[in-house]
Amino acid sequence: MKPLTKSPLQLARASYQPKMPKSLQGNVTIEEGRATQSVADQDDIKKLFPNTYGMPLLSFKPADAAKTYKTVNVGVILSGGQAPGGHNVICGLFDGLKRLNPENKLYGFLGGPSGLVDHEYTELTASVIDEYRNTGGFDIIGSGRTKLEEEWQYEKGAEICQKLGINAIVIIGGDDSNTNACVLAEYYVQKNKNIQVIGCPKTIDGDLKNEMIETSFGFDTACKVYSELIGNIQRDASSAKKYWHFIRLMGRSASHITLECALQSHPNICLISEEIEAKNMTLNDVVEDIVKVVVDRANHGLNYGTILIPEGLIEFIPAMKKLISELNDMLADNDDFNAMSSDEERREYVKGMLVPESCAVFRSLPKGIAKQLTLDRDPHGNVQVSLIETEKLLIEMVGKRLAQLKAEGKYKGKFSSINHFFGYEGRCAIPSNFDADYTYSLGVTAAVLISEGKTGYMSSVRNLTAHADEWIAGGVPITMMMNMERRHGKMKPVIQKALVRLDGAPFKYFASYREKWADDVSDFIYPGPIQYYGPSEVCDQPTYTLRLEQKK
Ligand code: FBP
Repeated sequence: MKPLTKSPLQLARASYQPKMPKSLQGNVTIEEGRATQSVADQDDIKKLFPNTYGMPLLSFKPADAAKTYKTVNVGVILSGGQAPGGHNVICGLFDGLKRLNPENKLYGFLGGPSGLVDHEYTELTASVIDEYRNTGGFDIIGSGRTKLEEEWQYEKGAEICQKLGINAIVIIGGDDSNTNACVLAEYYVQKNKNIQVIGCPKTIDGDLKNEMIETSFGFDTACKVYSELIGNIQRDASSAKKYWHFIRLMGRSASHITLECALQSHPNICLISEEIEAKNMTLNDVVEDIVKVVVDRANHGLNYGTILIPEGLIEFIPAMKKLISELNDMLADNDDFNAMSSDEERREYVKGMLVPESCAVFRSLPKGIAKQLTLDRDPHGNVQVSLIETEKLLIEMVGKRLAQLKAEGKYKGKFSSINHFFGYEGRCAIPSNFDADYTYSLGVTAAVLISEGKTGYMSSVRNLTAHADEWIAGGVPITMMMNMERRHGKMKPVIQKALVRLDGAPFKYFASYREKWADDVSDFIYPGPIQYYGPSEVCDQPTYTLRLEQKK
């Protein structure tokens, strides 16, 4: 391949040697722990996964003697949204495989899970791997959102694996992709295909975590990038003193990213979807809360500030959730609606069909947002919630309310606003030292699990707030993370998504400081850019979320 053009930092990072747990630095032996069971619905999950249910936890220990491993060929897949560190999982996997047996080979399936089904692949050789060490992005083999859910796909996958002599597939993905990895692992055992499947926990959203998976990779870097940008905006805000910045942050569903960025930057307001849902708040309640802070600050002469908004907010406001679900049912394959030619006609039609409560919510929305709700739909006919510009919706509603208060003589400030959306800015950033080390270790761990003949496991590296030497590498049976949930009208085994816990240390810490951050003139933090070289307290710190969860 043609070498990529590189910046000085990229050139320096190419030779960075990721830190690894002691157990991965030399010869490895596996210790079996307790047998596991799923987090809930044990009988159902056991029935669905007769071969991969109940397997023991695995942890790696340093060994004196090297073991001889048989040759394996492995195929790797990147699934879903990009997350910093994906390349290092593949580099770690490659190095791990070669160390265990130099004859081992690694193939990459191209463009995500569809590469396995469509037989699009490339061999990943040392020269390819060396181009991607410690880099951001998923461009080494590309990613995609095709779901591996059907038997014909599993069979097509088995066909190409048999052709290339592939003994194991590594799926690097989020909760859904790892759920599918587990189903695939079970299927291949049941059909005696001799193809192992190992998962790796990826997503910037941070919502693939549990007792055994402390964090998904990419969350650390993405949050640090967004926090740098938020800090820069805050410094601008407190210099110019004239704008309220409404900043929406990625995280399709859970608010982990928003919460972590708040912990890193101390914004004046930060909305947490899970709290809004728990308090059964309406959109107007949310607006009133924001208005209160804007008015209070104005009373102290502070007509500026920052507000962080999680991407998934709309779906956590109970009345909005109901409205969206009604719209999804009403507009899926609705030829009458699709044939209408004007926005006004569509608006009237929708108003006429909604139940009164939802109709009232729909009418209260700014016209542009109401239109987005009815028009921007995915191929299944569902509203594409992530495309809804919640920051603009809130700006409009807050502005209106402040104008009312001004007319009533209750607000004397000036409200000028700027909207931002941060998501893609962080997903392919050069991985922080934490993510570079963590992902490389996850890759090496996957290589060991494969060489030891394991299937249906997720690569796991724990004790992440300690020095990397003390990290604990091993494997967690994916079935352990599962429960039954209703998806598209059917009960399915899925990995539980981890939302922000209101009784968890990160949220509690935030809740205890938010009033101070709202009022204070100078409590903003300006975290600055990720540092790759320098003192460990500057370069290697994990997220506040992890540190608070582990009480560090
Ligand atoms: P994953 O769950 O696949 O990791 O993706 C997360 C995410 O980055 C969300 O934060 C965001 O809502 C979504 O992907 C955007 O998806 P797309 O890349 O398809 O625009």
